[in-house]
Amino acid sequence: VSGAEVRPLRFSGDALELLDQTLLPGEERWIRCAGATEVAEAIRRLAVRGAPAIGLAAAYGAALSARDGGLEDGCRALVEARPTAINLRWAVERVRAAAVEGGPGAALAMARRIESQQVEADRRLGEHGATLFGEAERVLTHCNTGALATGGSGTALGVIRTAHARGGVSEVLVDETRPLLQGARLTAFELDRLGIPYRVVPDSSAGALMARGLVDRVIVGADRIAANGDVANKIGTYTLAVLAERHALPFVVAAPLSTIDPASPSGEAIPIEQRDGSEVTTVAGTEVAPRGATALNPAFDVTPATLVTALVTEAGVLRPPYPRSIADVLAR
Ligand code: MRU
Repeated sequence: VSGAEVRPLRFSGDALELLDQTLLPGEERWIRCAGATEVAEAIRRLAVRGAPAIGLAAAYGAALSARDGGLEDGCRALVEARPTAINLRWAVERVRAAAVEGGPGAALAMARRIESQQVEADRRLGEHGATLFGEAERVLTHCNTGALATGGSGTALGVIRTAHARGGVSEVLVDETRPLLQGARLTAFELDRLGIPYRVVPDSSAGALMARGLVDRVIVGADRIAANGDVANKIGTYTLAVLAERHALPFVVAAPLSTIDPASPSGEAIPIEQRDGSEVTTVAGTEVAPRGATALNPAFDVTPATLVTALVTEAGVLRPPYPRSIADVLAR
């Protein structure tokens, strides 16, 4: 699948450079992170976001900490930057182990390997996912799961991209994804560049759009998938899954195997990041609530496995019962 590729990060040899996603789509500014502390801070403030891309940034951050002689502190700061996306811990642990075994050179080689594996996982995932589509489907998606979120071609958006190239998608309905508008800002930005037809829709319109017959399928990414198939993803995903069931629409989750956490038996074990209330009381920096208004801001929710029609991974499309299909694929 071709298309103008956007990239969330690049390693310059002595620093990690990140495309600051908080400024998109208005401004394309690259920021330079010279060490693990800066990378952790960039992850925390969402300059780089999306589970696999966070993993890649943290992998390079861990490699920088190995070079700078502060491996343990650097890895700890990176792992603590955000709690929900398991790819972060997964990537840091791999680079840390490589550093302990073979030093800074081995750590950097591991970070590069994780990056190329992600690109390949996205490609395969797109192929597998595209087989689910019929002709000219109207697809609803949430948050941003494209190149910006993975460093490859994307998870759910990568599937959409491959399916679109084969005639399987006629239009993408893009949830704006409040409070931080990853859909309106980032997914629309990517779809523009790819030339895939889309319309941004208010998060709250999903039920009405489904009831009017304007949606054929929902496909989203994941930040962590428990061993039983429960899926943690951007807040609002659970709502879509419930609505999809009500309207008998397929609800598909696309994620690399690195997003599956065998150590979380179910969604209950997945920590949900709580972010600052100011993200809710403001829109693009403008206060929209009365001064002093309090807010509740969980960044993710958990969709029970019973609402998930299919789980698309680079190793194939998993179906219920997920405890078994997940255990099987991880044992391969
Ligand atoms: O808070 P974010 O923007 O990092 O949340 C991202 C998501 O929830 C994505 O859907 C998920 O990471 C999958 S990205 C391929």
